[in-house]
Amino acid sequence: MKSLLFVPADNERKLAKAQSCGADALVFDLEDSVLPARKPLARQMLVEYLKTYSGSSQVWIRVNDLACGETLADLAAVIGSAPVGIVLPKIFGPECLERVSHYLDMAETSAGRPLGSTTILAVCTETPAAVLRMGEMPKKPIPRLRGMLWGGEDLSSAMGAGDPRAPDGSWRPVYEYARSQCLLACHALGVEAIDTVYVDFKNPEGCRANSTAARYDGFTGKVAIHPDQVPIINAAFSPSEDEIAFARRVLEAFEGGAGAVSLDGKMLDVPHLKAARRLLAGV
Ligand code: COA
Ligand code: MG
Repeated sequence: MKSLLFVPADNERKLAKAQSCGADALVFDLEDSVLPARKPLARQMLVEYLKTYSGSSQVWIRVNDLACGETLADLAAVIGSAPVGIVLPKIFGPECLERVSHYLDMAETSAGRPLGSTTILAVCTETPAAVLRMGEMPKKPIPRLRGMLWGGEDLSSAMGAGDPRAPDGSWRPVYEYARSQCLLACHALGVEAIDTVYVDFKNPEGCRANSTAARYDGFTGKVAIHPDQVPIINAAFSPSEDEIAFARRVLEAFEGGAGAVSLDGKMLDVPHLKAARRLLAGV
């Protein structure tokens, strides 16, 4: 999944717009974009909406976190709508995934869905404990885990800190650390690595640069908060013509059978060959 567009589940206009946005995934939100008093209404609206949903974007649902006491009500309401998966926010460590995986066993059984059919995207940097315990995640892989994403705003809020970004827009060190931890854990687990939101949704150039940097760093996709960000993210996570042409030249350079070759005056060896093959496999 390259682009995952968040859609507040209690907003009729945004629900109506969502399926024509071209996102690989829509993440219908029951958590932070819905005020507590509107959670029951949001569940109801979403279930009704999904009855007639005919878009080609995968359907994901962000449920409420385990600490707030709403998760079971969310799962009981929405699993019958057969989402591809749920986004689980504010985890504290791998045991949260185990717990929700058991909840899903029950919700799937009672909704008549195949056991294990609902996957999970975990938001793995929203509590200080989760960041500190990131190294435990690959030791307890959960079959349902499809990917992880990271976010800085809730981590900053959990620490009573200020804006997670420095005035130049870069992440302050603790968030950069959390981002790197998430990225490494995803690749250690072999699951999708999803970059966080670019909040300045009226700045397409900034979104493009931010998305390109995320792909360069090894993220496989990125969250969008506004329809305008979707095509930018889709393009940034697709290899450019230049990259494809270069990858083909790398493959040609290795055709002679040597393990190390020179191209444009630079040394290339097996990691470069693997990178070129990986890039072309995704085209
Ligand atoms: N999903 C679907 N449609 C969206 C959308 C979204 N996330 N964000 C905006 N739209 C729609 C609007 O409804 C509007 O369509 P309409 O005229 O038919 O109603 C159109 O796109 C243009 O929207 P715009 O006026 O530019 O933005 P806005 O002021 O309505 O909304 C935000 C701005 C940031 C509040 C909105 O983009 C949003 O709610 N984003 C998601 C927030 C979220 O889920 N946060 C939690 C995850 S981090
Ligand atoms: Mg949040």
